[in-house]
Parts: sequence; structure tokens; C-alpha cells
Amino acid sequence: MKALVLAGGVGSRMRPITHTSAKQLIPIANKPVLYYGLEAIREAGIREVGIIVGNTAPEIERAVGDGSQFGLDVTYLPQDAPRGLGHAVLIARDYLDEDDFVMYLGDNFVVGGISDVVDRFRRERPHAQLMLTRVKNPHAFGVAEIGQGGQVIGVEEKPLHPKSDLAVVGVYVFSPAVHEAVAELKPSWRSELEITEAIQRLIDQGRRVESTTITGFWKDTGNLADMLEMNQFVLNGIDSAESGSVSADTELTGRVVVGPGAVVSGSRIVGPVVVGAGSVIRNSYLGPFTSIDRDCTVVDSEIEQSIVLCGACIEGVGRIEWSMIGREARVVPGPRGPKTYRFVLGDHSEVRVGA
Ligand code: G1P
Repeated sequence: MKALVLAGGVGSRMRPITHTSAKQLIPIANKPVLYYGLEAIREAGIREVGIIVGNTAPEIERAVGDGSQFGLDVTYLPQDAPRGLGHAVLIARDYLDEDDFVMYLGDNFVVGGISDVVDRFRRERPHAQLMLTRVKNPHAFGVAEIGQGGQVIGVEEKPLHPKSDLAVVGVYVFSPAVHEAVAELKPSWRSELEITEAIQRLIDQGRRVESTTITGFWKDTGNLADMLEMNQFVLNGIDSAESGSVSADTELTGRVVVGPGAVVSGSRIVGPVVVGAGSVIRNSYLGPFTSIDRDCTVVDSEIEQSIVLCGACIEGVGRIEWSMIGREARVVPGPRGPKTYRFVLGDHSEVRVGA
């Protein structure tokens, strides 16, 4: 079995971060979202992985390399534009050959991995196996209708009137039967080749499409709130580890990771919090669910429930919360009176200032 990982896409809902960085590489607890997926694939006993890449290809390739750091053998498959999940399968046709494969959306985060679903597919050998989960807003996803034994009797993409509350999670297992269905797809209303339509074709042909409904945490990391929620979830599971230096006048409460070469002094940190390698935290407060990536500086500031990307600098600012601060960004005080703000904001930035 192979895996096909989708890491193209433009990440429009995560701008401005995604103007300069692939959304699949946004760190969650200081580790790119995509890495969690690659680890789950390896855990399921798969080695050969094709990664679909778009215009962020150089960055993805730099981060994943040949895959050996994950025990994987990675091949990159360029896609000229985001033309849909069905299109990704179409351009991977030669790479996938006659093998079964897992299709994994690189911005999806599935707690509990994919081994159970993959094992079940190997045992029962349906033509396709979907992972489903109950959601409150099914119209925002692919939605499945299932029969009594869990077999899928219909799927619809973002239906106005969903037939169930079972959303299709971004992990699919396919037999090569899917290729014929994909080859017949026509662009949908959103100009994409929809994998959902290919699955419906399999069902119409009388092929066996099975489902597994998961109950664990799942996110398709579309926007800031999703990212922060996922960060919170992962941080909840960390264990304390101190490989940097923490001065005696610092108070650590709860689970806190201080990475190698990080220097923490005169501060109060209430976990769960991770501080990346080489970061400096001085005279500051870091509150629960905060991830500070490597080589950041936080001085005379307070921050919680936030993700700070590498090299950012926060100095002399009061409480920051529920925020994502991009790479090498600087957050510093304005001039002394009159009360004013000074901004240099990238395209599509968002700033919320206290009233
Ligand atoms: C895609 C699929 C959809 C699925 C979702 C899961 O949606 O088309 O069926 O439920 O991924 O993340 P998209 O992210 O393209 O809107």
C-alpha cells in the first residue's frame, strides 16, 4: 500500500501566514501539521509516499526531504494549480500504479492515527474505505449516508440539505478501482475534480464503499481558531522537559517544555507551554496553551493561548492572547503618548486592539 499526501492548496483562510509559508507547515506545539500526518502514515506500516505539491513545493521539500527522517520514501508530484482532490489522484496515476493507497489531506489532523482504518481495509478489502465523524455543520464538508452495516450508500460534497451529520474526514483508503471513476470526472461548480463524486460513482457501480466513524479529535485546519484549538489539544498531551536553562527566579507551573539552548529568566510560565530551542523568555508571563517556536524573544510581555512562529520578537507589550504571530514578526510598544498605534501589516493581516 502507498500513501498520497496532499500538500498543495493556497491556504486562503490562513492569510497572511500563508502568503509566505505553506499552511501544512504551520507548527502545532512547534511541529508542522504535516509531520503529524506523515508519522501516522508510517505508523500504519506504509513506506512509499507521494506528496502532491503546488507553489509552496520548495518549502515542503525542504521540510520533508526524501522522507527518511520519518522512515518514509517520498516522491514529489507537482500539481500546477489546486484543481481538486480528484485531480490529485489523476496526476498520481502512474505513481500509484496498481497499488491500494491512503489519500491523506496534509492539513488534516486526526488523533489516534490511521492504523485502524488501514488495517480494516487490508482485512476486508472493500473498493474504498472512508473515515467519518459526526459534526454540527455537515454542510461545510463531504457528507456520507450510511447503511446498517456501515457501508456508504451515498456521498455529497457540501450539500445544502445534508442527509446526515457524518462528515468525510480527509483520510480515504482506495483500491485501484477508483482510477476509472476519477478519469470520468468533470469539474464541479467550484471548478474542481471532486473525489466525493468519484466515490459516488463507485457506489453507483455497485462497488463496496465502507466507513469507519471516529470519535476522537479531528480538525481540518482551515482557520486560526482551528489551529489554536489543535494547538491546545496537542499541548494538553505534552510532558514536561527542560533542556534549556531556567533561572531560579522563574516559576514554572504545570507541564512546560523548554527546548535546548532556550533561556528563561525572571518569568512565570503556566503550562501547558512549549518554548522552542534558542528562544529567550525574560521578565514575562506565558500562559496555558502557548507554543513559542525556536529563536523567539519574549521580553517584558504577557502571552497566552497563542502560536508564535520562529524568530518572532515580542517586547514590552501587555497581554496578547488567541493570536498567531508569524516568522520574524516584531510586536513592540509604540512611542510614548499621545496614545497611538503604529503598524506595518502584511496583506490580509488582522489586528484587534483593545477598545
Ligand atoms: C475536502 C473534501 C471534503 C472533506 C474535507 C475534509 O474539502 O472535499 O469532502 O469533508 O476535505 O477536510 P475541502 O477542504 O476541499 O473544502
